[in-house]
Amino acid sequence: MHDSLQVLSKKAAQALREAKTVDALKEVEREFLGKNGQVTGLLKGVKDLPDDEKRLFGKAVNDLKAELEGLLESRRHELQRAEIDAALENDWLDLSAPGEKFATGHIHPLAQVQREVETIFQQMGFSIIDGPEIESEFYNFEGLNIPSYHPARDMQDTFFIDKEADPVEGKLVLRTQTSPNQLRAMKKYGAPLRIIVPGRVFRNEATDASHEHTFDQVEGLLIDKDISIANLKGTMQEFLTRLFKREVKVRFRPGYFPFVEPGLELDMSCPFCTDGCRVCKRSGWIEFMGSGMVHPNVLRAGGVDPNEYQGWAFGFGLTRLVMMRYGIDDIRHLQSGDLRFNEQF
Ligand code: PHE
Repeated sequence: MHDSLQVLSKKAAQALREAKTVDALKEVEREFLGKNGQVTGLLKGVKDLPDDEKRLFGKAVNDLKAELEGLLESRRHELQRAEIDAALENDWLDLSAPGEKFATGHIHPLAQVQREVETIFQQMGFSIIDGPEIESEFYNFEGLNIPSYHPARDMQDTFFIDKEADPVEGKLVLRTQTSPNQLRAMKKYGAPLRIIVPGRVFRNEATDASHEHTFDQVEGLLIDKDISIANLKGTMQEFLTRLFKREVKVRFRPGYFPFVEPGLELDMSCPFCTDGCRVCKRSGWIEFMGSGMVHPNVLRAGGVDPNEYQGWAFGFGLTRLVMMRYGIDDIRHLQSGDLRFNEQF
């Protein structure tokens, strides 16, 4: 091959090797094979050569051109493949990788136990009803046989709504108990009646580990003909046995609540031990709730004739039940909204 062609061939081959990208390669192509490229220039010059050189030199330049085109093509492939490999390496997406865990949350312990309580009472034919958290003084106190001068008012000091009192229903208060729904349910549905009312209640308390301004109760009310405390005993014994999934016994002690007569405190045998533990203070019994036969005045205030019907009512602390069950030692955890607490249940 002609000397100058050999130099050009080497130069071009080196330029091709040094081109590191497809774009750089295009530059090289232009430089040698483009319209004004060096090889093209030589081809153009062939026509001015003497005839004997024309053929030989022309063939040599054409061979060089073909050789360069071949090299160019394979280099282009190489660079394209490298670019694709790099892209695959950098934008790597593993479609089979496990996804990021999505925090779904779960049911608050109070709500969990509330649902269990509701299910058991539903199975025993009770309806679950709801009542307002902002009550009138009438429903929360007077209608339940607690007039304004009654000492029981002091035990259930509460928050009053700053609004003029209604001449009949009195001021608005945050309900201190779920008992107002005894009256509401009697008025709305009449007798016979079998209900429970779970819900939040409020008291003006100095908060500490066992006192909160807001906690949960479950009210129960059964009204029918020929109802006695025996029905209450059987119902609660069955309820607690199903709830704790072991045999629980109940016993009554006298208690005082103005809206029941007689009034009773119900204790349950300790469901956590057989021979004394911290929860039952080694006594084997746990105070569970207030209850009693609905006072005739309350039946009347609810529009039910006490000569025809009688019934019993109870109220227990759902919050306390949850604390006992899970061994929670500070009531303030329950409304704290602290996930580290909630996540444990
Ligand atoms: N309401 C009472 C309380 O909060 C409990 C109770 C309910 C007592 C029904 C008797 C009957 O202490």
